[in-house]
Amino acid sequence: MSRWTVLFCVLLAVCASAAVKTCVQKVTPGLSQRIQCVCNATYCDEFPPLGTLGDDDVAVYKSSIDGKRFERTTVKFGSTAARSAKTITVTLDDTVRYQHIIGFGAAFTDATGYNLNKLPQAVRDVAMNAYFGEGGIGYSTGRVPIASTDFSLTKYSYDDVAGDFALKNWNLTNEDFQYKIPYIKQAQNLTNGEIKLFSTPWSAPGWMKTNNDMQGNGTIKGEVGGDYYQAFALYQYKFFEAYHNNGIDFWGLTVLNEPFSQGTWQIMTLSAQQEAAFLKNNLGPLLKNSSITKDIKIMIHDDQRDAIFNYSNTIISDPDAAKYVDGIAVHWYMDEQTSPTILTDVHNAHPDKFILPTEACTYAAKDMLGDWSRALQYSYDIITDLQNWATGWTDWNLVLDPQGGPNWVGNYVDAPLIINATTGEFYKQPIYYAMGHFSKFLQPLSQRVSLKIENYIATDYLEVVGFVTPDHHRVAILDNRQAAATYTINLVDAATNKTTSIDIEPRSIATIVWNSPSA
Ligand SMILES: *[C@@H]1O[C@H](CO)[C@@H](O)[C@H](O)[C@H]1NC(C)=O
Ligand SMILES: *[C@@H]1O[C@H](CO)[C@@H](O)[C@H](O)[C@H]1NC(C)=O
Ligand SMILES: *[C@@H]1O[C@H](CO)[C@@H](O)[C@H](O)[C@H]1NC(C)=O
Ligand SMILES: *[C@@H]1O[C@H](CO)[C@@H](O)[C@H](O)[C@H]1NC(C)=O
Ligand SMILES: *[C@@H]1O[C@H](CO)[C@@H](O)[C@H](O)[C@H]1NC(C)=O
Ligand SMILES: *[C@@H]1O[C@H](CO)[C@@H](O)[C@H](O)[C@H]1NC(C)=O
Ligand SMILES: *[C@@H]1O[C@H](CO)[C@@H](O)[C@H](O)[C@H]1NC(C)=O
Ligand SMILES: *[C@@H]1O[C@H](CO)[C@@H](O)[C@H](O)[C@H]1NC(C)=O
Repeated sequence: MSRWTVLFCVLLAVCASAAVKTCVQKVTPGLSQRIQCVCNATYCDEFPPLGTLGDDDVAVYKSSIDGKRFERTTVKFGSTAARSAKTITVTLDDTVRYQHIIGFGAAFTDATGYNLNKLPQAVRDVAMNAYFGEGGIGYSTGRVPIASTDFSLTKYSYDDVAGDFALKNWNLTNEDFQYKIPYIKQAQNLTNGEIKLFSTPWSAPGWMKTNNDMQGNGTIKGEVGGDYYQAFALYQYKFFEAYHNNGIDFWGLTVLNEPFSQGTWQIMTLSAQQEAAFLKNNLGPLLKNSSITKDIKIMIHDDQRDAIFNYSNTIISDPDAAKYVDGIAVHWYMDEQTSPTILTDVHNAHPDKFILPTEACTYAAKDMLGDWSRALQYSYDIITDLQNWATGWTDWNLVLDPQGGPNWVGNYVDAPLIINATTGEFYKQPIYYAMGHFSKFLQPLSQRVSLKIENYIATDYLEVVGFVTPDHHRVAILDNRQAAATYTINLVDAATNKTTSIDIEPRSIATIVWNSPSA
């Protein structure tokens, strides 16, 4: 900015806001608080840049049921802490440190690419940018299904020739080339190659399963750790080889999606004993023996919280399996039935293995478009996961249609970006903003620190979590899930005792950023 531009801006005091594209609201008729933000080829709201903060500047980003979407303001630290008895004091102390962030992201499903392909090229670029580009929400991870899931147009594997133990007929499909690879490459490009990709199979090919079908309940045939297990390991290895040959390398994998799933789509059951045997006899040795796959991080479990403790204990208590385990993946469905502190129990039992939430979504419903309550379901789950050693959070489909599909078994769900194929636009759902409140600043290697909350009772529906980031910022993220109460937060930085006061309005999420003085 030139000196004259700065002067002009100071005089008008509007340049900062005018420069940033804000939400163009689409309100569901008759439902005033059902707000989506409309994006097209030439217009899409952006994450307002942080800019350079002065030593006493505190940037506050807010989103709320009333329609705030990453609304940025700046408040100042005063020099002394005015701690009254009534205000809730939130103190960040970066001398107390916890886990490092791996990343935030979502999945490159077939449905995602199918939907993006229905939009004009320029609008696809805007959508990808909204996740991975400048002005977007800084996604740093991506989950890639190995072959089909329920969010495909049909059921397919990479080798349906029964008895092909050498996987001679293994091949990528049109879906890879039309729906997945182009968008993964674009995300790589937008993140300067830094996106961390991890794969997941939903099932082995039908011929490897006891029920002879990718769909429905069944496990791997034959002796545990035997020929069929070896074939399933080779099936996964060939995926990494084929994507490598297309210029795409992976950071990690989960061994199998939801080994307890009883869904009506592509599923496969696998007990902890079976997964341990598969790891130590088949998958682990095969991957470590190839330059393409030797460094891939291996995540076990990849299912709901309720079973995570016993499942991971069983596998990790076998040292020959444990040596291949880098992390433990967890999904969010049924989270209300199990306390998030079970993740801390898992961490304490296996402090050298990371915990990564790898799938979450809310289900489709008649009034899901613009439904803000889903944003708070996300923020509550993300904060309580992060408070219990989670190293990031992974949403499910990146892009869906207004029905919440396509999904070949009709298992429709919500997504942060919903296309309108008729108009060639897309709509940002409230959960897009929920994700962005975390993903934007909690870049890889950010570290959780102590964020102590005082004058708070559990029924306050207020959650908080604090971090320091690699680019020397301190970050506090809060949500207020109360229907009516505004909380006045007294934010204190323990390193300086500087304090400031911030109102957190009902049903809102706030991300608060300031400089790390010790940087
Ligand atoms: C895109 O959206 C902007 C902002 O709403 C609008 O001004 C513009 O006319 C739209 N463009 C098209 C091609 O619809
Ligand atoms: C595998 O797919 C590629 C690209 O579609 C094709 O060129 C090749 O012939 C296929 N190979 C086999 C063995 O089907
Ligand atoms: C990567 O991004 C650059 C700059 O936007 C663009 O010129 C290039 O075509 C992109 N490459 C791919 C493979 O998308
Ligand atoms: C699903 O299959 C597993 C083994 O493959 C079996 O233990 C379980 O009982 C089956 N569940 C149902 C509902 O059939
Ligand atoms: C490792 O690779 C070598 C050469 O490719 C092969 O001879 C050997 O059998 C492989 N070992 C395992 C455990 O896969
Ligand atoms: C975990 O294992 C213990 C000991 O075997 C058992 O008592 C407990 O019920 C199991 N918990 C779950 C949730 O399966
Ligand atoms: C898509 O756009 C059309 C034309 O404006 C509109 O009638 C329809 O309601 C839109 N769909 C959604 C889900 O908003
Ligand atoms: C901050 O205030 C606390 C409590 O009054 C005090 O113990 C601490 O030494 C102060 N820290 C700094 C850096 O001034």
